[in-house]
Amino acid sequence: MERQRISAIAHRDHPIAAPLDPDSADRLVRWGLPVGDERVLDLGCGRGAWLELAVNGRPDIQAVGVDLDAEVIEEARKALAGENVELEVGDAAAFTSEEPFELVLCMGATHAFGGLLPTLEAARRHLAPGGAVLVGDGYWEREPGPAALEIFGDGSGTDPYTDLATTVDRVVQAGWTPVFGYTSTAAELDEYEWCWTGTLSEWALDNPEDPDSPTALKAARVHREEWLHGYRGTFGFVSLLLRRTDGGA
Ligand SMILES: C[S@@+](CC[C@H](N)C(=O)[O-])C[C@H]1O[C@@H](n2cnc3c(N)ncnc32)[C@H](O)[C@@H]1O
Repeated sequence: MERQRISAIAHRDHPIAAPLDPDSADRLVRWGLPVGDERVLDLGCGRGAWLELAVNGRPDIQAVGVDLDAEVIEEARKALAGENVELEVGDAAAFTSEEPFELVLCMGATHAFGGLLPTLEAARRHLAPGGAVLVGDGYWEREPGPAALEIFGDGSGTDPYTDLATTVDRVVQAGWTPVFGYTSTAAELDEYEWCWTGTLSEWALDNPEDPDSPTALKAARVHREEWLHGYRGTFGFVSLLLRRTDGGA
């Protein structure tokens, strides 16, 4: 069973592929779009859930989304048909545009750039002066044990997770000021995992004749065990709305 099919089924009941409920996500987007005619770029846009929030009720927004995965871009194209949104299949790290953006999002996709600080450096290249970056990334709520480190990697070769305070300190030291932020609640983190594993399990049980059914059931079980035994209570997720401290881009 292809990873994309697993992901498409698992996210049916949670279109945002990050541990935030729609109201929390909407609040962040509203904060980042004070005028309503901004240019918005979403790096690693997935199925376009954040772009949908951005254009909702704002006809003057111009938005661009880029994702490596052609299938999720196809789903985003369907979800955003008729909206002022361009969607591209491609590596977000290689994305270029002639015009800068007032808001650059990268939610749950910092691995595309090698971690949080490299993501901010990449986002900065697309930012208009005075613009903002909305980035969502993991952090350690508690010291990770071996199981959590095995699942999320030990940080070698990428920008490693740290605790929340250190995460924000590093961002500030890199020249950014948080102008808003949101720390996902334990309930949002749980909801995301229950949706992911539950929707996939339910699909497998409802479609026993599908050749992918046993694989889906197993994938859901493995994911649920990794979460409950490995990182529940240890992994946290923070969304930061950031502007350059010097006011520039
Ligand atoms: C956890 S999902 C988040 C999707 C979306 N931001 C959201 O919150 O709903 C991560 C996304 O990053 C995309 N991705 C991973 N590496 C990428 C890269 N190098 N360039 C563009 N997209 C990438 C994946 O295909 C996936 O859609």
